[in-house]
Amino acid sequence: MSADDTPIDKLLSGLLPPTVRLAWQRLDDAVEPEFRFAEEAAHVEGAVAKRRVEFGAGRALFHRLHDELLAEDAPGSAAGPALAPAAPLLVAEDRGPLWPAGVVGSISHTKGLCVVALARTSDHPRLGLDVEVTAPLPDKLWPSILTVSERARIQGLGARGPLLSKLHFSGKEAVYKWLSRDEKRVVAFEEVELGFSLARGSFATSLLFENTLPRPTGSWRIGREFLATAVW
Ligand SMILES: CC(C)(COP(=O)(O)OP(=O)(O)OC[C@H]1O[C@@H](n2cnc3c(N)ncnc32)[C@H](O)[C@@H]1OP(=O)(O)O)[C@@H](O)C(=O)NCCC(=O)NCCS
Repeated sequence: MSADDTPIDKLLSGLLPPTVRLAWQRLDDAVEPEFRFAEEAAHVEGAVAKRRVEFGAGRALFHRLHDELLAEDAPGSAAGPALAPAAPLLVAEDRGPLWPAGVVGSISHTKGLCVVALARTSDHPRLGLDVEVTAPLPDKLWPSILTVSERARIQGLGARGPLLSKLHFSGKEAVYKWLSRDEKRVVAFEEVELGFSLARGSFATSLLFENTLPRPTGSWRIGREFLATAVW
């Protein structure tokens, strides 16, 4: 671990339950990614360096975590149901990853950081994760991202309000990924309402459309450089 790692490890520590594996890496657009599978490299062939680097980091971190789960499944070990062997992590029509049998995950990248979460579907049927740079959401975006009651709550918080606006944005992105297994459409920001507990590092999610889904558990952390939200 380098001195640089400590704030990110601290940020992500306890964000998700121990049944979810997390891995992260800093991103450097000057370092060309190495892909384990040609199909993954082909997906970003011709893309700009930033995109190749973030996509490559997500795939590399996914394979690291998937390998760890596969190692638990080695003959003689007492793990959960057998998982699909290592294979390219391909991209679905909705641009989400096509998780291999037995696992579900979530990938997020922002300026300079990529984080991946992965779990057995027997532990977690759905996962959502998002990381963002620690900075307020620009005021002009508030009406399109926040519901009327979210805005009222944030405005009542004084100096802490602007950063909470970014947490709402991040939390909704995480919820969108959490929903992707069940909702095969683009769920709009105004269809989801979040209620943050500032004391507990958690948030409640209300889905404002007809559904039969369980209520997700949400958590959040803010660090100096980055903030993170997760739902499971
Ligand atoms: C998909 C989306 C949430 C990604 O968020 P983002 O902040 O742009 O980018 P992130 O880096 O956090 O996430 C990107 C990763 O999300 C994953 N992703 C993309 N589309 C996805 C989908 N439909 N479902 C699940 N995961 C998806 C991918 O793994 C992607 O990384 P990769 O292409 O390198 O594999 C966003 O682009 C989007 O389409 N939002 C639309 C609606 C929305 O957010 N509604 C919120 C209210 S529910």
